Amino acid sequence: MEFNLAVLPGDGIGPEIIAETVKVLEVVGKKFSHQFNYTYGLVGGVAIEQEMTALSIDTLKLCRRSDAVLLGAVGDPKYDDPQAPIHPEDGLLALRKELGLFANLRPVKVYPALIDNTNFKPEVLKGVDFIFVRELTGGLYFGRPKRQWRTTRGRRAIDSMSYSEQEVERIVRVGFEIARTRKKKLISVDKANVLQSSRLWRQMTIEISKDYPDIELEHMLVDACAMRIIQNPRYLDTLVTENTFGDILTDEASMLGGSLGMLASASLAGVPKEGSRTLGMYEPSHGSAPRRAGLDMVNPIATIVSMAMMLSYSLGLVKEAKAVEMAIEKVLDEGYRTYDIMGEGKIKVGTKKMGDLIADRAGG
Ligand code: IPM
Ligand code: MG
Repeated sequence: MEFNLAVLPGDGIGPEIIAETVKVLEVVGKKFSHQFNYTYGLVGGVAIEQEMTALSIDTLKLCRRSDAVLLGAVGDPKYDDPQAPIHPEDGLLALRKELGLFANLRPVKVYPALIDNTNFKPEVLKGVDFIFVRELTGGLYFGRPKRQWRTTRGRRAIDSMSYSEQEVERIVRVGFEIARTRKKKLISVDKANVLQSSRLWRQMTIEISKDYPDIELEHMLVDACAMRIIQNPRYLDTLVTENTFGDILTDEASMLGGSLGMLASASLAGVPKEGSRTLGMYEPSHGSAPRRAGLDMVNPIATIVSMAMMLSYSLGLVKEAKAVEMAIEKVLDEGYRTYDIMGEGKIKVGTKKMGDLIADRAGG
C-alpha cells in the first residue's frame, strides 16, 4: 500500500530523531511492501525563522491532506523570553487544535531490560503497563481569558481552566473505549474537591459510565494520582485526565520507563482502533533538548515507538507496528543504550547507531 506522510522535524534534536525514525520506517516499508511518501514541513522555531509564524497555512494544509503527521519536537531557547510575541510551542498547540487532535495517548511501558536502569526498586516496576488518555485541546492551555496586564498595583495574569460538556464527553469516551481493550478498568483523574471544571468532569464521567457497564470506573484526585504513580504503578491501567494534569503526570510517569526519551505519544482526532485509519499526529513526549542538539547522543526510541503507534492507529498496519516494537525490545535486550538509559556493563551508542540497530532488527 502507499501512504502520504507529513514530516515536521521541528527544532533542536527534532531533525535527528526524525531521521532515525524515517530510517526504521523505510526498512519496514521494504519488508512489508509499502511505499511511504514523505513531505517535509516546518513548525516551531524553524518556522518562525523561515515563515514568520510558528505554524504556516502551508504546513497546516500539508498535514490535512496527509494520512498521518510525524513530528520531532519544538522549542528554542531563543524564544524563552516570556515577552516574545510568538513561541515555537504555539505552532504545536495550533496544530493540535486545528487538526482537532483532542485525544492524546501516552503508553507507559517498562521494558524488562531497563528495570535495573531506573531509580525504582525492581519489584515496584515489574509488570507495569498503563496508558494515559490526556485531553489535548482544552483546559488551561486554550481557555479564555488568557492574558497578562498591568494594574495600578502591579502586573496580573490569568489562564482559564474551562471545559464544555462536549469536550469532556468525547475524551472520556475515548478513555472508556481504551479501557475496554485493556483491563476494563478506567481511572478518571481530576481535582473535583476544589475545581469546578473537575466537578463537571466527574459528573459527566459518572453519566457516561452508564454506557459502559462492563468497565469499572474509579475517580482519583490528581495529587493522589501523582503519588500512586511512584508508590504502586502496577495498580494503574487506563487513566483519563484533562490537559494540564496529563502533561505533568506523563512526565512523571515516564521515569518508570527509565527516561522521558522512552515515552511515546499519539494525538488523535477520534476514538482509536488498532487497524483503523484515524487522523493522528505522532511525536515523542519530550521536548527539543536544544543543548543536546547535533551531538548524536539523544534517544530516538520515543519517536520510533510513536511511529509504531502511527502504523497501527492511522495507517492500519498492525503487524508492521509489532515488528517495530519487537525490534526495539531486541536491541534493548542485546544491551544497547543511549546515554539516558545507560547502565553498568551496557553498550553505549548514539542516536544514529540506535536507529541503525533498530532498523536492522526490524528488517530481519
Ligand atoms: C508535551 C509538551 C508540550 C505540552 C509543550 C512542548 C507545549 O510538554 O507534549 O507534553 O505541554 O503539551
Ligand atoms: Mg509535557
